[in-house]
Amino acid sequence: MLSKKMEDALNEQINKEMYSAYLYLSMSAHSTNIGLPGFANWFMVQYKEETEHAMRIYNYINEQGGKVKLKAIEEPPSEFKDVMDMFEKTLKHEQFITKSIHDLMELAIKERDHATQIFLQWFVTEQIEEEGNDNEILAKLRLAGDKGNGLFMIDKELATRVYVPPVESKE
Ligand code: FEO
Repeated sequence: MLSKKMEDALNEQINKEMYSAYLYLSMSAHSTNIGLPGFANWFMVQYKEETEHAMRIYNYINEQGGKVKLKAIEEPPSEFKDVMDMFEKTLKHEQFITKSIHDLMELAIKERDHATQIFLQWFVTEQIEEEGNDNEILAKLRLAGDKGNGLFMIDKELATRVYVPPVESKE
């Protein structure tokens, strides 16, 4: 059973995850547009992951007998200076999401909502991984350069990322 406050906050998080999906889909489209299929692939996988994050929360609210409320998704930017700009924006956005997850956890603790605390633990861990991935790619872009051969090599590497759907648990 979710409190109204917790339910509202989780619904807000669905919207943030859907915006994240939209933002990365926009970056994927931009990457395709500028001729970088590896970057386009990486952001497309990220888009799918974000949709899955939103669905996790959607399913959790339903499981808890709460009411899912979908809100309008803000328009993401569609123009980016270069790939460095896209990854800097990605990292900044993920830091914002991490803070949002931590705020949700704080609320769950304050409300003594143990079920939601356990549910949110997966997201806390996921955010460490997400920020780690972004930092790693930014470091590579700084090292190899975000132009010419270095950029081509990184594009090839990012082309190998594959979306792994979550394993559905059986009742
Ligand atoms: Fe769902 Fe990238 O946080």
